[in-house]
Amino acid sequence: MRVLIMQDVSPAGLAELDGFELVRGSDPAGCDGAVCYLIDRIDEDFLSTPGLRGLATVSVGLDHIDLAAAERHGIPIAYTPDVLTEATADLTFALLLGAARRLGEGERYLRAGRWTTWSFDLLLGTDVHGKTLGIIGPGRIGRAVARRAEGFAMRVLFAGRDPAELDRVLAESDFIAVTVPLSSDTRHMIGAEEMARMKPGAILVNTSRGPVVDEQALAAALKSGHLGGAGLDVFEQEPQVHPDLLECENALLVPHIGSATRETRDGMARLACRGLAQILRGERPPNLANPQVWPLEAAAPQ
Ligand code: DGY
Repeated sequence: MRVLIMQDVSPAGLAELDGFELVRGSDPAGCDGAVCYLIDRIDEDFLSTPGLRGLATVSVGLDHIDLAAAERHGIPIAYTPDVLTEATADLTFALLLGAARRLGEGERYLRAGRWTTWSFDLLLGTDVHGKTLGIIGPGRIGRAVARRAEGFAMRVLFAGRDPAELDRVLAESDFIAVTVPLSSDTRHMIGAEEMARMKPGAILVNTSRGPVVDEQALAAALKSGHLGGAGLDVFEQEPQVHPDLLECENALLVPHIGSATRETRDGMARLACRGLAQILRGERPPNLANPQVWPLEAAAPQ
């Protein structure tokens, strides 16, 4: 059986596909399965490839895949929940701390040779301990961020689907972490109106998907001084970053590295590839993103 490998996958992952013929590229023609990443657009054309029987994505996010088309064509998808939760929560907390203590600005300042003396009010930030953290998205990553906040004696508020919870998070939080998946419901869920309802000086952290936050509105809120800072791992048009955001000294910006540790990326690659191997052998993987297509016979298009 032939498996299309669309991007680099670590040897730990490829080892799970031992015995399969591996081909590189982006064309699934002639392949039984494919391994993709979040930068691969998996659309109806791709999913309707004759002979394609399964897909694995080395990601927990699924917004790059046309899930409705996968269901129509009965293509099971293995993905990587859980294994990246702690690493992503670590980065979320790192961005929160970094934005609060102006680490990006401090580093730029020092490297530019502008540091001439210690001074009392150089790069004053804001305390993290004892503050209120609002977490939008009470899922696995949101809860893991909350566990970290406990160590900083923070008060934690969650916002799920109930609009009253979002109102409270926006009104009362000193820090807001966005951890929801991208969907038509969450696209631009944090826009100008929501930012206006945040506390003056609040810091927004986004490690979910860029389009959940309206970047133009965020840049305006940072420039006006209404928001105190932002920590962003994800952007609306990756790898492009909104030029207005690049001008904001108080935005700490990193290139979508939430799960980027060696251990976690190996774990993701292993889980995704093992899931695809199981699908192709006719076994149900535990990490199936669309369980409604299983068992395959029942889900096959008529
Ligand atoms: C994911 O898995 O969806 C992350 O964004 C990348 O690791």
